[in-house]
Amino acid sequence: MMNKSILFIHGFPLDSYMWDEQYNYFSKKFNVYCPDLPGFGENNLETPKTIEGFAYYLKDYIESKGEKKVTICGFSMGGYITFAFYELFPQYVDSLILVDTKVKSDNREQKENRNLAIEGIKKEGVNYFIRVMPQRLLSGKSLQDNNIFEKVKRMILRQKGDNLINALIAMRDRKDRSYILENINVKTLFICGSEDPITPPNEMEEMSRRVKNSLFFVIEGASHLSNMEDPVKFNKIISDFLEEG
Ligand code: MLT
Repeated sequence: MMNKSILFIHGFPLDSYMWDEQYNYFSKKFNVYCPDLPGFGENNLETPKTIEGFAYYLKDYIESKGEKKVTICGFSMGGYITFAFYELFPQYVDSLILVDTKVKSDNREQKENRNLAIEGIKKEGVNYFIRVMPQRLLSGKSLQDNNIFEKVKRMILRQKGDNLINALIAMRDRKDRSYILENINVKTLFICGSEDPITPPNEMEEMSRRVKNSLFFVIEGASHLSNMEDPVKFNKIISDFLEEG
């Protein structure tokens, strides 16, 4: 039987390094892909200004690897992209894993915050995010953990201001895809950190209720970056989901 394949899609303002613990664990059994999205990490392409632009990029990426169907695991912004990808290219999707993400568009206040972030980057470059982001991504306990904190900082510092601005525009203007939930007909798993302030567990549970036969897990004590904060639990949840058939 052919190996299963998993595509991990990173969040913002991060890159593929956020998936190190997943890459090491799952590549023993599966074909694992953790690309840097255009303009992030070591990918020198320009970042698209739409969420759909990322989805088109990933379709070409999957085809370039000779893959016909993959499990897609999208974290936060990667989840917004995953929903768009499933809407545009369902034929490539074996199953879905949605991590600390949401299906709704930004409300007015969130859009204003995107604009403030764009102004922040214009003034301070990526340092703007070093100032504001780790506290939003990590729980109090993980903020004390130098390994995680330093890794997050290093990832943020690798990004380029202009590309982050494009991604902020893409997230600010993304459409609400709530209508897609009842139409998802592949195996689906939702995972969320119990302390996540950006995509809270109650919103994720609500999404899970609307997707037929989906599973929902909370990682206690983790914040937004649940896969880095508790990789052991995170990997076990995904492993059980994938092994189950
Ligand atoms: C992310 O983690 O990808 C971002 O925080 C998502 C967002 O800002 O909406």
